[in-house]
Amino acid sequence: MQQEKPCEKVVFFCDGKKCCRYNDEAKNTLSDLISDCGLAEVVVLKKMKCQGICKKAPVFYLPNNDTYKKEVSSKKAKKIFEKYIAPEKRNSVE
Ligand code: FES
Repeated sequence: MQQEKPCEKVVFFCDGKKCCRYNDEAKNTLSDLISDCGLAEVVVLKKMKCQGICKKAPVFYLPNNDTYKKEVSSKKAKKIFEKYIAPEKRNSVE
């Protein structure tokens, strides 16, 4: 098992049957923002199993903040990035 770096931030995305139909856009947005801001070394996107809130698909989970984000669109993914992943980059993300 690979050991996580202490400063690593993890963003989980639900890869259950329902969420995986809708989460591509949000995943891609987050992934692009993470790469564009040079955070690929410290922020990782990981799969998680169905969380039982499929009606709110796609679902993301931020373990550092113990927060579930529901119905995550590309726009919401950008807000998640600005608020939870890299608040210091808030003004640099268009
Ligand atoms: S498939 Fe994502 S919460 Fe069920």
